[in-house]
Amino acid sequence: GKDHRLARISSSIRIIPDFPKPGIMFQDITTLLLDHKAFRDTIDIFVERYREKNISVVAGIEARGFIFGPPIALAIGAKFVPMRKPKKLPGEVISEEYALEYGTDKMEMHVGAVQSGDRALVIDDLIATGGTLCAAVRLLERAGADVVECACVIELPELKGREKLGHRSVFVLVKG
Ligand code: PRP
Repeated sequence: GKDHRLARISSSIRIIPDFPKPGIMFQDITTLLLDHKAFRDTIDIFVERYREKNISVVAGIEARGFIFGPPIALAIGAKFVPMRKPKKLPGEVISEEYALEYGTDKMEMHVGAVQSGDRALVIDDLIATGGTLCAAVRLLERAGADVVECACVIELPELKGREKLGHRSVFVLVKG
């Protein structure tokens, strides 16, 4: 059943205290990737949820959205669009700034990758403050896409990232 799968996924994620700095409990999904059953179950749960939803684009956020996004896109028959850190994409881009704990960062997407009428699913490994997902949603909506849902493996609910996403729906597998 689904609960059994979620329990395995949850226990396959390693928590590293004080990484990358003191006080942060890092949620390390590389150990989930080492457990082929947990990795397969993760992809399967997303595919079961999105296969009949007419999703035309899976937008994966650098870096770990590039691990979970492509197998989902292939399974549901959608295109995959990378949402990248600045100055990585070679073509014309649109960009959005978002807040970090200290300062700001930027996310970029190729112009023409997404069109008006596209139905988008945003994929990342984790939602913390929600700033990263929010920037991805803004890029997709500027390009005219309808963002159907944002999906992550892990949510840190104490940081209330969902509130930043407003009316948009966020689906997660486990809470950290
Ligand atoms: C992590 C995580 C999300 C983001 C979530 O990425 O993979 O992309 O933070 O945080 P937020 O909800 O507060 O915006 P990280 O900053 O570690 O970048 P990386 O994936 O390039 O290592």
